[in-house]
Amino acid sequence: MSPENEPRHHFMAPYDGVADDYASDSLSFFNVLGEQLVEMVGISPGDTVLDVACGAGAVTLPAARRVGPSGRVIGIDISEGMLRHAQRRAAVENLDHVSFRQTDVGELKSGEGPHFDVGLCGFAIHLFDDRSVPLRNLAARLRPGGKVGWSIWGENALQPGMALFRSVFTGTPMPDSVPDTGDLESGDHNHLETLMATVGFPGVSIKPFQHNHRLPTFDDYWTLMSTCGQRAAIENMPQEVRDRFRAELFKAFKEISDEDGGLSIDVSCLMVVGKVPG
Ligand SMILES: C[S@@+](CC[C@H](N)C(=O)[O-])C[C@H]1O[C@@H](n2cnc3c(N)ncnc32)[C@H](O)[C@@H]1O
Repeated sequence: MSPENEPRHHFMAPYDGVADDYASDSLSFFNVLGEQLVEMVGISPGDTVLDVACGAGAVTLPAARRVGPSGRVIGIDISEGMLRHAQRRAAVENLDHVSFRQTDVGELKSGEGPHFDVGLCGFAIHLFDDRSVPLRNLAARLRPGGKVGWSIWGENALQPGMALFRSVFTGTPMPDSVPDTGDLESGDHNHLETLMATVGFPGVSIKPFQHNHRLPTFDDYWTLMSTCGQRAAIENMPQEVRDRFRAELFKAFKEISDEDGGLSIDVSCLMVVGKVPG
């Protein structure tokens, strides 16, 4: 992978280790958000679709249902573990017109293969230091007049869970080996419009989608935090530090959880939709 295409440091830990979590209820909101992205882009029966950084198939599968057997969907991801889940889920639904490939979106070749009607990407563009790289690569695989749709977290994403995590994290002494945890990368309209114009999509539509996801237990909350941008910090904590940190986080969680012991998390996002000129 060339340096300018490398994902951001705190996302560097491979997704293979958390692939099972993406198929769990703690992260099932990705399926809701994937359905919504497909809905907003507008996909027709018979369309050919490329879903990059497809993960466990949250966007790929609704796209495949939408295009039907006369269409074709290809999901690509760098993580074998994520692709295994996506493949299994497609097989359960007998979606034979979907296929998956292990490929780095930063290294997708332009001009190669079919020219797709639609290009999709759920929650991965922000993983790149230069967000235009995956977008450019995706755009290069679309036919003139083809559509692109991708999602990025909204301003309050994962709140109040993220703020809780950060406050306990900053209050707990950490060895130098533990990287700091930043806020989740989110999008703002101006930046997204400029970015899309840079990669050749004029007249972009940016639609917010509000959604909340209830995590029934602290374990579900821990799973969510361990799979997002905080993952590298958690993984780098020595066991004894991690146990202490988890105990402190549990105490703080209990203070804000509802009467049944769960917590509702904001998983609102922005859906960006554009059309290739021509
Ligand atoms: C937050 S998950 C989103 C998965 C899915 N699109 C969804 O909406 O649920 C991010 C995904 O990006 C993938 N990814 C990260 N860097 C990548 C790269 N350079 N090329 C391809 N996939 C990548 C990860 O393996 C992971 O499956």
